[in-house]
Amino acid sequence: MNSPWHYKEDTLTFDNIPLGEIVKDHPTPFYLYSLDQLTKNFSQFQEAATSAGLENGLICFALKANPNKEILKSLASLGCGADIVSGGELKRAMDCGIEPQKIVFSGVGKQDWEIREALASHPLGIYSFNVESIEELKDIARLAKEEKKRARVAFRLNPKVNALTHKHISTGFKTHKFGLLKADILRALAIIKDEPALNLVGLSIHIGSQLTCMKATEEALLEVGSLAVKISEQLGKDLEFIDVGGGLGIDYSPADKKIFTTPREYMDLVFKTIEALYHPKKLPRIVFEPGRVIVARVGMFVTRVIRTKVSEDCKFVIVDGGMNDFVRPSLYEAYHGIYPAIKREGLEKVDIVGPICETADCFATGREVSPIIKGDILAVADTGAYGFSMASQYNMRSLPIEVVLQKKSIES
Ligand code: LLP
Repeated sequence: MNSPWHYKEDTLTFDNIPLGEIVKDHPTPFYLYSLDQLTKNFSQFQEAATSAGLENGLICFALKANPNKEILKSLASLGCGADIVSGGELKRAMDCGIEPQKIVFSGVGKQDWEIREALASHPLGIYSFNVESIEELKDIARLAKEEKKRARVAFRLNPKVNALTHKHISTGFKTHKFGLLKADILRALAIIKDEPALNLVGLSIHIGSQLTCMKATEEALLEVGSLAVKISEQLGKDLEFIDVGGGLGIDYSPADKKIFTTPREYMDLVFKTIEALYHPKKLPRIVFEPGRVIVARVGMFVTRVIRTKVSEDCKFVIVDGGMNDFVRPSLYEAYHGIYPAIKREGLEKVDIVGPICETADCFATGREVSPIIKGDILAVADTGAYGFSMASQYNMRSLPIEVVLQKKSIES
């Protein structure tokens, strides 16, 4: 099964436990996660890489998708690494047992103290600083010298592609703040050559998130792969790895007619594209930075109906969770399935809204659901990624709690 929830007759279950039972022990709203589902998703991603011929791959989970401690400890025990973007994420990853030599550090705004901590994390520092500008490269060199370290660095290439996803989460076009253009990377090689404090070990890309069509991914892979070959020739040494970033999308809506790429199809594309450029030489190690595809389906956001309200033709279902708890529908107009803990006979069209004083505080508009009354429990599906990690205390509200169901909590 691809999700931890399903209906047993009219009762919604999560990890085979009726949601109504779980709610008795926890105040709403809360996030609910399944470590069983997490293990399945990670294993599926890893197996896809192995069977495509990328057995030496390194999977660095993008912490920003879900930095929950139990989730990270579980991933660490499965051998997973981390893609981080801050000193806070570095600390969280290491506290949860992720080895520094499996950590890549992305982001355009790395600060001195964050770079120092990453250098100090291990005798070799972290696996890679994915460098986003020449100015940052110089800062890393300066700090590495001060700390008497040799920093492992990779250039993040801006491949100038249009990822065709929501504009807020597209990152590989030339006007975006991310990465370096090819010409700038080639220029920066001169700095690297003369700087013993820098060790160029790889190249990276990340062109966006919730990617469904793989056309831009293929173009970006061709760009980064051919640049890696060119750099190896210029420097007379092979790069250790190519980091292909994250971004693989998931199917949030059953009605979505888009073609979704599976992890296996994605891995085949990565292998085929890079292999063709390297042949007959051995492929470099491939690093992956998945977030959503590992954790989105692991979680549900559980909320209680405060009351319903009828106004002319509109029926509002007002719930105790708001856009501060789960912002994806408000920020990206994202669709998420919403399911009642107990289904009743019939269907009605409602707007499901939160208590925040903004019209954008709306989880669904004109959604057909089974009739809902005050006190009902609703679960918002596929909220394990970019759910709690983007929650805020807007309107002076408390952060929602996170409930983690341990592995094999109940067999069906
Ligand atoms: N690597 C880098 C450098 C990233 O910036 C990101 C996500 C990832 C990996 C992981 O991407 P994923 O596999 O999860 O697509 N809040 C938005 C998504 C923002 C993604 C930011 N970067 C959302 O809720 O859709």
